[in-house]
Amino acid sequence: MADTTLMEKLVSLCKRRGFVFQSSEIYGGLGSVWDYGPLGVELKKNVKDRWWRAMVHARDDIEGLDAAILMAPQVWEASGHVAGFTDPLVDCKTCKARFRADKIQDAQCPQKPSKHPGEHSTCELTEPRLFNLMFKTFMGPVEEQAAVIYLRPETAQGIYVNYLNVLNSSRQKVPFGIAQIGKAFRNEITPGNFIFRTREFEQMEMQFFVKPGTDGEWFEQWREWRMAWHHSVGLTPAKLRWHPHGPGELAHYAKAAYDIEYEFPFGWNEIEGIHNRSDFDLGRHQQYSGKKLDYFDQAANTRFIPYIIETSAGADRVTLTLLVDAYREEQVEGETRVVLGFHPSIAPIKAAVLPLVKKDGMPELAERIYHDLKQRFTCFYDDSGAIGRRYRRMDEAGTPFCITVDGQTASDQSVTIRLRDAMTQERVGIDRLAAWVSERV
Ligand code: GAP
Repeated sequence: MADTTLMEKLVSLCKRRGFVFQSSEIYGGLGSVWDYGPLGVELKKNVKDRWWRAMVHARDDIEGLDAAILMAPQVWEASGHVAGFTDPLVDCKTCKARFRADKIQDAQCPQKPSKHPGEHSTCELTEPRLFNLMFKTFMGPVEEQAAVIYLRPETAQGIYVNYLNVLNSSRQKVPFGIAQIGKAFRNEITPGNFIFRTREFEQMEMQFFVKPGTDGEWFEQWREWRMAWHHSVGLTPAKLRWHPHGPGELAHYAKAAYDIEYEFPFGWNEIEGIHNRSDFDLGRHQQYSGKKLDYFDQAANTRFIPYIIETSAGADRVTLTLLVDAYREEQVEGETRVVLGFHPSIAPIKAAVLPLVKKDGMPELAERIYHDLKQRFTCFYDDSGAIGRRYRRMDEAGTPFCITVDGQTASDQSVTIRLRDAMTQERVGIDRLAAWVSERV
């Protein structure tokens, strides 16, 4: 059963606390495009940093890349997107609403009472038409067919067309990977559920090039590593599961595919796909570009087109998953405490520094501590209102540690650290403070 209240509460908290705002809100908003506020941009950056660290910095066999969003239009012909990146669309002639034909059972007719499209006697649905999801624009001053160019619908193709450049400039050998984080655009017919499905989003994709015949093993290995990563950022394991793609679900490029799904308030949904793309992509780019893209295996003295194992996650979708997973309400002393229980490495603010009262030298000492800690991690200074209210504000922002300067601080150079989840306090010397927080974030 969908828990719409939880999503409504989360959307409202995200706006109130500066995580996510609707794009162009003062003009009434732009459909399914969202902006990240001060806390949201830190949260999403932490997601991307954790991914980059695990995929690129912590490994010797993966290189990073930042390819342009605009690519030669032939790329999208070779990739199959011009011909096949389509959704079946149906229009209702009565209410003028549009639906994905394959998702009618998940959609709501705008007419009341609430029913699926086609179920009211007045509904008049058209036959499904195929609708290409790529955004088009024009390169140069003339708006003509020859100048059509696309906003990339996935970052993966930027990796395929650069595979030889990276190989030749990095001394990698197959098996090796290329990772990239970047914007992608899809003119989704039925976007929604906040930042779950949007028209502009960021992907974190890694393409791993392997010898044909070893692809099955690598596929299983990457499935294991990617699930472990989602656990490592703090997602509840029981809310994650695998969804294997059946023959009817497989994308045109995939030999095998598994989604990592999360149990959202609106049901189980994909947050990352692991795909065995075989030699489809490099084979097609070799065919369309006329450039040889095979790999020479010196040890075996053979040439082959590498198979590709892809791991493809949405940065916005993982950010939403972390928000949903972290949100909880608790009753504390007769009041509702709203907490975002992020893993400390993901939390947008690592520590808040709070003088207990605005006198007796406490603000000065607290400011000094704040300026020192701020050099190492994201901190927040707050001296307004009762201490309990300040703790609650930090709970809502997901800040794991609140450092309070109190009457004892001046005499023994110690502060209290209040833990967001347990709400217990520890006394720590100022000289050990930075190390204490660093060890935990
Ligand atoms: N290169 C393969 C590829 O793009 P995909 O399953 O279409 O595969 C991969 O997308 C991931 O990108 C998804 O698991 C999701 O996290 C994210 N994603 C896709 N479409 C999205 C959208 N409209 N809004 C937000 N994230 C999206």
